[in-house]
Amino acid sequence: MFDFPLPIQPSTYDMKDWLGYFKQNKQARITLDWSRELIVDDSLRHPLLKTLQCFQIGETGEGEHLLNYANKIKNADYIACIELFIEEEQEHARLLAQAIQSLGSSPIQSHWAQTAFFILRRLGKLESEILILLIGEIIGLNFYAIARDNVKDPTLTKMFYQITHDEFGHTKFHSLYLSHFFSQLPNIKQNLIAYIWRIIFIGAALVFSIDNRQTLKNLNTSPISFFKTCLLFFNQNCKKIFSQLFTCTVEKVYGQE
Ligand SMILES: [Fe+2]
Ligand SMILES: [Fe+2]
Repeated sequence: MFDFPLPIQPSTYDMKDWLGYFKQNKQARITLDWSRELIVDDSLRHPLLKTLQCFQIGETGEGEHLLNYANKIKNADYIACIELFIEEEQEHARLLAQAIQSLGSSPIQSHWAQTAFFILRRLGKLESEILILLIGEIIGLNFYAIARDNVKDPTLTKMFYQITHDEFGHTKFHSLYLSHFFSQLPNIKQNLIAYIWRIIFIGAALVFSIDNRQTLKNLNTSPISFFKTCLLFFNQNCKKIFSQLFTCTVEKVYGQE
């Protein structure tokens, strides 16, 4: 793996730190050379294109709905972070469109998975929109990391390296915000939300693993191990977001209530 220094993501809820990070991350982008032909095995090219087209359409979108919700929070730093987050996602859409074209195809205009996420994201308020968005972020992050480690082409490797870095920042940023928000809710409500979120996540990760099994196999990853890795990362984020819930459970188990 090549060595390219990228900004380190903050570990606190402080939105000023996050705004500093997003600004730095906008400046420190990896330069990609699209002028040369991409080196991708024929067996991988077609399934990879299908998967990238699905992600590309998911990364597209102005994020207007999310920004409208964020504006209600009345935290200027948080709103500025959301604006830069949306810019990063649009940059991913641009990079993926470039990769799709360089692989000899074109971005698609619609995909059933994108439509399903679009509907789910609009069912609630800001926090439920972010929870649904995080499902796509977690699955995406795990896929991009596998692609980064297994494609042979140097330009694609660098592109997936950049996107994986950004997506890791997104999951951390959203999880910290949600953790702050949900800590104010009663445990019973947190339990219910965590339970529903897990069911939706498992469904989405299973469908993705099955639907993209050929791409995963050609990237040396079985769909089952991909699903397990996604679930592991989901559980880590779930613990961060609903930390009070987990602390409570541990305290009950050890009789320290
Ligand atoms: Fe993205
Ligand atoms: Fe993202």
